[in-house]
Amino acid sequence: MEKLRIRSVFGTRPEAIKMAPLVKELSSRAGIQSLCCVTAQHRQMLDSVLEVFHIQPDRDLDIMTPRQTLSSITSRCLLGMDAAIEALKPDMILVHGDTSTTFAGALSAFYHQVPVGHVEAGLRTYDKYSPFPEEMNRKLVSAIADLYFCPTANNRENLLREGISQGIFVTGNTVIDALHTTVREDHRFSNEKLDRLLYGEKKILLVTCHRRENYGEPMRNIMLALRQIAEEDPDVELVYPVHLSPVVREAVDKYLRGAPRVHLIDPLPADDMHNLMARSYLVLTDSGGLQEEAPALGKPVLVMRRETERPEAVAAGTVKLCGVVQDDIVTMAQRLIHDRQAYEEMAHAVNPYGDGRACVRIADAIEWHFGLRTERPEEFGA
Ligand code: UD1
Ligand code: UDP
Repeated sequence: MEKLRIRSVFGTRPEAIKMAPLVKELSSRAGIQSLCCVTAQHRQMLDSVLEVFHIQPDRDLDIMTPRQTLSSITSRCLLGMDAAIEALKPDMILVHGDTSTTFAGALSAFYHQVPVGHVEAGLRTYDKYSPFPEEMNRKLVSAIADLYFCPTANNRENLLREGISQGIFVTGNTVIDALHTTVREDHRFSNEKLDRLLYGEKKILLVTCHRRENYGEPMRNIMLALRQIAEEDPDVELVYPVHLSPVVREAVDKYLRGAPRVHLIDPLPADDMHNLMARSYLVLTDSGGLQEEAPALGKPVLVMRRETERPEAVAAGTVKLCGVVQDDIVTMAQRLIHDRQAYEEMAHAVNPYGDGRACVRIADAIEWHFGLRTERPEEFGA
């Protein structure tokens, strides 16, 4: 019997981290031929993930250009995908999340009348411009997709409210599967400076920041807040692996570089990043993925955004929104640094996003959909 041809399409760092365990799970299934096509919307940051997880792409569209615009990413992905789909002959294309690669991958599959499975479906803020352009990307992909792999029951509710009732599976988030493979007590960091810092007595504040809706004034406020936190507190070390986006790098150089106790480093390989998080005191971020990973590791998170599409860990008490106003960020961070009780109230491991079996459920659901399995997979949280 011919194998089911499942093709995964991804292009940025977070998509790659979250799709890597799924690509592996699909490859382990006897009835599936799993291939992957990368757009390389991110070049260096994608390659780093491929290396950590030992994934060799079958097609590489290599679309990244310096200071790429949303239109250039989308159009270059679409043009590249035409030939990839012709060559890969998919029975289904899997896309992940809400990036421009995700949207273009789904749209291209639609143009070729290939069914689409959306991994990490159903996240919403209901604010069209925040996160930008991700909220619209995921809504547009919802309109195209045939199967929806929702991390949580709340994500499924969002889809049901929008009139989508078929093809939804609550699976947990694949990022927790990835974390299970990377975090180790005896992890050795590739960065010597990190090794030294982690053996010290100071509280490690792990920072990331890159969102397009934070470009400009909000990013300036964030950088100044980080500077103030580090300047006013000799007990902290702020570790910030800076995203390769030139817009982010300019803001970091202008407002943060040179501050005491601030360690600006290049993006870390995913395994180093996850193990650094596991050894940090507090996470300050505008990233989506960190909001899911840190709670699983029992680390409090301050989200430097006005909203979040990930309310589950906020409800569980491990994540708080601190906004993008300098004073608010400083006040909330300093409270967690100095007020032991406030810290302990947030620092407990919660796993609203998964149990490490999301990829098994997604692969099972795909097999069930195509008639390779008789039982519908049990849902995460059931
Ligand atoms: C993209 C996604 C965002 C996701 C983020 C994860 C879109 C529109 N945005 O945002 O949803 O949260 O990735 O990090 O899809 N660059 C490099 N080398 C790299 C990676 C990026 O030089 O390895 C540069 C690019 O040339 C580009 C800039 O960084 O000019 C920004 O990258 P881009 O993919 O356009 O958007 P992100 O802000 O990274
Ligand atoms: N990450 C990483 N190295 C870094 C910073 C982040 O491996 O230097 C990982 C992080 O642990 C998470 C993912 O990248 O798994 C998040 O990606 P990012 O913040 O770029 O995007 P988002 O999640 O906001 O879409």
